[in-house]
Amino acid sequence: MADQIKTIGVLTSGGDAPGMNAAIRAVVRKALANGVNVKGIKRGYAGLLAEEIIDMGRKDVSDTIQRGGTILGTARCLEFKEEEVQAQAAEICKKHGIDGIVVIGGDGSYRGAQALARHGINTIGLPGTIDLDIACTDYTIGFDTAVNTAMQAIDKVRDTSSSHERCSIIEVMGRNAGYIALWCGIANGAEDILLPETYDYNEQRIINNIIENRKKGKKHHIIINAEGIGHSTSMARRIEAATGIETRATILGYMQRGGSPTCKDRYYASIMGAYAADILCEGKSNRVVAYRGGEFVDYDIEEALNMTKQIPEYQYMVSKTI
Ligand code: ADP
Ligand code: F6P
Repeated sequence: MADQIKTIGVLTSGGDAPGMNAAIRAVVRKALANGVNVKGIKRGYAGLLAEEIIDMGRKDVSDTIQRGGTILGTARCLEFKEEEVQAQAAEICKKHGIDGIVVIGGDGSYRGAQALARHGINTIGLPGTIDLDIACTDYTIGFDTAVNTAMQAIDKVRDTSSSHERCSIIEVMGRNAGYIALWCGIANGAEDILLPETYDYNEQRIINNIIENRKKGKKHHIIINAEGIGHSTSMARRIEAATGIETRATILGYMQRGGSPTCKDRYYASIMGAYAADILCEGKSNRVVAYRGGEFVDYDIEEALNMTKQIPEYQYMVSKTI
């Protein structure tokens, strides 16, 4: 362990994700095992600026691994984009004896971590978002729970949709990213999947598809609509008018961000949290932890933020075929 690292902080930022608590727990316990003190920073960067900082021991993270949400709270803090606010946050860290921080969040939160590193506070990012939209990693904490929650809800909508011989538009989360929609679309056997990355706004094609399927005797028609496409309710009205088939929209919303994390989310969050604590205690900074090609690795934040990610073409093609 680097001699200079005596105390680290941990915070969660941006949208919460199931598994964040498992990550916090791992950071706390691994750092303590390394002989380093841990402070919890509440409400993301907003809490850091307000100095909402608490000491954390092993017992403070007991009975949390199975809980959804984040015990530290989270926030979106727009003023953190300002240089002088970032400098002020670094001063607050120094005042509280915090040598480094683990930031659990998405791309935006990584930019905040990068800013703190520029001001002399060591930082390590952990991928915490249900959206699976961080390019450097094959896995983000929360995605597995979110898609399982959404999949179960969509199965239920499908039951009633079939009974009533209706068409259903089900909107899942993902303002800019269609991974939840793609995974649920395949796992729920949806007839159409609309992703922000690929949708061509050709509603007539969907209408034709619904009419064809009805002629073939299909009792339901499930359309998974990513949040970024939006307008699910008005789309349902237009489709009903054009096809004559009763059409309903269901917006799953924030239920996808809550709930007890799956085994996969707890496991990845635990390993990534421990990994982050280890490299921070070793004195590394300006890095993000990722899972890539079957291994846990770390990247420079700038390198990670410059990576790009596309909806995998083959997987998208399969979703349209089966
Ligand atoms: P996520 O981390 O899930 O991508 P956001 O994009 O909302 O979520 O970012 C979370 C928080 O990270 C923001 O509210 C802000 O405090 C901080 N942040 C975002 N972008 C920047 C930036 N360019 N510079 C500094 N901090 C940022
Ligand atoms: O955290 C990711 C996410 O849930 C996106 O899927 C969604 O677009 C966004 O956050 C919603 O953010 P907010 O909580 O600010 O409404």
